[in-house]
Amino acid sequence: MNLSLLHPHSPSPAPGELTRVVAAAATQQRPVKGRGKGSKGRGKARGGGKRRLPTAPVLKVLDPLGGLPRLLAGRYRLERLLGAGGMGVVYRARDLLHEQFGDPEPYVAVKLLSEAFADAPDASALLYSEFALTRRLHHRHIVRMHSFDVDTGHACAFITMEQLHGMPLDQLLCQWPLGLPWAQSREVIPALLDALAYCHGLGVLHGDLKPGNLMLGDDGLRLFDFGLSRAAQGLLPGLPGLNRQRFDAWTPSYAAPELLEGAPLSAAADLFAAACVIHELVSGQHPYRRLPSTQARDQQLDLQLQRPRQLPGHCWPALRTALALNAAERAIGVEELRDAFAPRGGWLGGWLQRREP
Ligand SMILES: Nc1ncnc2c1ncn2[C@@H]1O[C@H](COP(=O)(O)OP(=O)(O)OP(=O)(O)O)[C@@H](O)[C@H]1O
Ligand SMILES: [Mg+2]
Repeated sequence: MNLSLLHPHSPSPAPGELTRVVAAAATQQRPVKGRGKGSKGRGKARGGGKRRLPTAPVLKVLDPLGGLPRLLAGRYRLERLLGAGGMGVVYRARDLLHEQFGDPEPYVAVKLLSEAFADAPDASALLYSEFALTRRLHHRHIVRMHSFDVDTGHACAFITMEQLHGMPLDQLLCQWPLGLPWAQSREVIPALLDALAYCHGLGVLHGDLKPGNLMLGDDGLRLFDFGLSRAAQGLLPGLPGLNRQRFDAWTPSYAAPELLEGAPLSAAADLFAAACVIHELVSGQHPYRRLPSTQARDQQLDLQLQRPRQLPGHCWPALRTALALNAAERAIGVEELRDAFAPRGGWLGGWLQRREP
């Protein structure tokens, strides 16, 4: 990541610093209790998390490549599993067509629906919706889509996209239990908020912001997994009308309470999730102990919020507002939150920022 490109006027960490943070995490083996995929509240019931649909097994995702055709659509040779989530499974593949024309980097990531979802009636339309929404987005901090395709022989739809390199933030945070060093957080947070502001500006709501859907690598931060995203009213009216009820799969500790209670996805809900991620990045702690946000609200946990020690004082009022569990009190937009984290200009701002907290 070229940190000076992100914020040319701010004092940047030494080149390669962020790479070292990721690399250091990759080499540390010490797991931190209560973190990681197993503790993220997966497989939850309706209104809670990933909802399992009754389906016949179609793809053997637990046995990587075992039940899958190695060649998809006569063109994509699946090589290995990159990751699996509640809804999708992602493989690294070689694009044989590009390879044939001498492309030295013919690698793509291929996303298919996981076994539990693949057979559901709206499944392919859901995957298409993810593709159609993400394809509109051209931003340095958002994953780039290539194509939507169908392997007719195996009756399976799939997306191809750029392969991301690096480490998802949930894994990275396992190795930084007190949060990332501020010098890194202050680069990553504006990148996240930039990406989110851009999406919202184009009428795309993400719906599943969480550390596991953000990848940090040499070339910076990338937001991915728009599997639950929705278009603002009027945008892409031709997209198939999905019965989203079947797919409601919010992640309870990052989804805003109103979302868990059935309200439609909104920019304010995305902002709440982003604020939870930011809190975690700077402190290593989820602001509400990873409880479902409705439970945190019922216990009035936002009254107990305290500024994370590492966080400069001038960032806290905006972050605290974005963390409000009551949607009416979340009176802040993504640009405003981003501005609160923007590097301060001038020698005095720079000096203060280095001294804070
Ligand atoms: N473009 C990519 N390049 C490399 N790895 C990827 C890419 N996209 C996804 N992955 C990996 O695959 C995993 C699952 O992908 P993704 O998050 O899109 O699936 P999902 O089922 O929608 O997840 P979730 O459980 O968050 O809903 C990710 O956590 C990540 O590790
Ligand atoms: Mg995901």
